[in-house]
Amino acid sequence: MEQELYNIKENALKEINDVQDKKLLAEIKVKYLGKQGELTAILRNMRNIAPEDRPKMGAIVNEVRNALEEAFYSKEDIFAKQELEEKLQSEKVDITEPSKGIRKGSLHPIPSVLDKFIDICVSMGFTVVEGPEVESDYYNFESMNTPKNHPARDMQDSFYITENILLRTQTSAVQGRELETRKPPFKIVVPGRTYRNDSDSTHSPMFHQMEGLVVDENVSMADLKIMLSEMMKRLYGENTKIRFRPSYFPFTEPSIEVDVSCPNCAGNGCKTCKGTGFLEILGAGVVNPKVLEIAGIDSKKYRGFAFGMGIERTSMVLNSISDLRPMFKNDARFLNQMK
Ligand code: PHE
Repeated sequence: MEQELYNIKENALKEINDVQDKKLLAEIKVKYLGKQGELTAILRNMRNIAPEDRPKMGAIVNEVRNALEEAFYSKEDIFAKQELEEKLQSEKVDITEPSKGIRKGSLHPIPSVLDKFIDICVSMGFTVVEGPEVESDYYNFESMNTPKNHPARDMQDSFYITENILLRTQTSAVQGRELETRKPPFKIVVPGRTYRNDSDSTHSPMFHQMEGLVVDENVSMADLKIMLSEMMKRLYGENTKIRFRPSYFPFTEPSIEVDVSCPNCAGNGCKTCKGTGFLEILGAGVVNPKVLEIAGIDSKKYRGFAFGMGIERTSMVLNSISDLRPMFKNDARFLNQMK
């Protein structure tokens, strides 16, 4: 039996020494030390040995087992180190290779125009306010002197949710709300999303507007024109030419539309401005006294002027593009070229 143990030891050590593979090593381990292993079998046999021989045999069994465990352990260690080394080699990173550079994000052309215009208005003393996008027919139309069946409603193809609730078609809806709660004099601007059932290269069903409203005792069309001229110059550049045209809105009287010279051709006429040299970007006017009266403001004492600017239009003008749809497709290659 003693000899048998030494044979096991010798064979096992040789096998461990020769093996070149982690999996095979594990199999050898099972073969000798596993539950059905050769050494385990001998241990199980101990009870058949004469009691006086047991201590000696026990010592030999332990010696053999320690030797094998030690050998397995160091071989496993060798394999583990080899594996790590291979992994490090295959996953090697060349830290001297030049980097691809970090691509910087930028603001989307819509919020960037809004921010710029808000800054201009705030510097001129305006307060920024917001209102709901899901709006009542009352604020969107009636408070703006546009009762039901008014022909001017046809100018804005609206998304109704119920008979009296709709997606606001204009930020002018917030005029109605603010006129009810604010005490004149005040100057507010309202940036926000608006919705109309329109979809082509220059219209999107969701678009943005920026409303301005000034209410005071002695304001007139002259103040409106001066203020808009200054705003447009700051927004589009000092050399921008501005053109005022008569127009019609139920909530302003008189009403005007404002065009700026096309930045693409400096007013000479090109594709962007359809040869006219100008681009239409906002509607404005002196607040119709009826709008003040509807909100409970004394129209003998107070007057106002208002304007509503299309942000997509402005962004199109600033970027000289004739189709706004790519602005709402998340193609970074396009958006990165925008101002
Ligand atoms: N709300 C108008 C529109 O969307 C624009 C406007 C605002 C006109 C304020 C006059 C005064 O077309």
